Amino acid sequence: MLKIALTKGRIEKNMTETFEKIGYDITNLMNKDRELQINIEDKLQIIFAKSNDVVTFIEHGVVDIGIVGSDTLLENAFKDYYELLDLEIGKCCFAVCSYPDYRNLNLNRRKKIATKYPNITKKYFERKEEDVEIIKLEGSVELGPVVGLTDAIVDIVETGSTLKANGLEVIERIANISTRLICNKTKFKYKKEEILNLVDLIEKHK
Ligand code: PRP
Repeated sequence: MLKIALTKGRIEKNMTETFEKIGYDITNLMNKDRELQINIEDKLQIIFAKSNDVVTFIEHGVVDIGIVGSDTLLENAFKDYYELLDLEIGKCCFAVCSYPDYRNLNLNRRKKIATKYPNITKKYFERKEEDVEIIKLEGSVELGPVVGLTDAIVDIVETGSTLKANGLEVIERIANISTRLICNKTKFKYKKEEILNLVDLIEKHK
C-alpha cells in the first residue's frame, strides 16, 4: 500500500476526481467527514494535511508521496525529494503587487513588502539587489498596502480578482505555480515500481 499526503482543499478535490477517473472506488473519500486518514481500496492510504505539513511528512519519510503546490515547495527549506509529476492543476503565479503608482515610488527609506512567503520574497529582492523590509502576514496579504502597512506585497495571483477588488495590480510576475507530486527519496528506492505505476496512472487521468 502506498501512503500519500494530500494537501487539504482544492488539491484534495481535484485528486478525488483523478482517483475516480483512474477507476478506484472513492466511496471512502466521498464519505469523509473529520477523518484525517482513509484508505482507497487496499491500494492507497491517504492522509489530509496542510501544505507545509505534506513536505514535513515527506521529509520524515512517514509517507511515500506528497501532493502539494510548488509555492510551498519553493518556500520550504527542505529540498531533498524527487519531483515526479507536474499535475498542472492549481495554476497561478507569484507576483509583486501594489497600487499602480508603485512603479514611480521614490522613497528615502527601504520599501516594505508584506508576504506569506518570506523566503521567496527575500530571494527575489536579493536577485534584484534591492534592500527591502519584509513583513510576514498569515493571510489576506493584500491588507498590507490597503491598511498602509507596506508599499507592496509578494503573493499568489490566480484570477486577479482579489487584487482588482482592492485597487491593486501585478507589478511583476516572479514565478509560475502548479501542483506537484513529490516523493521521499528512500521510499522511491524501495517502492520504485509501485510508485511509478501510480504516477503513470495519475498522469494519464489528470
Ligand atoms: C490567495 C492569495 C490571494 C488570493 C488570490 O489567498 O493569497 O489573496 O488567493 O486569488 P485571486 O487572484 O483568484 O483573487 P487565499 O484565498 O488562499 O486566502 P488567504 O490570503 O487568506 O491565505
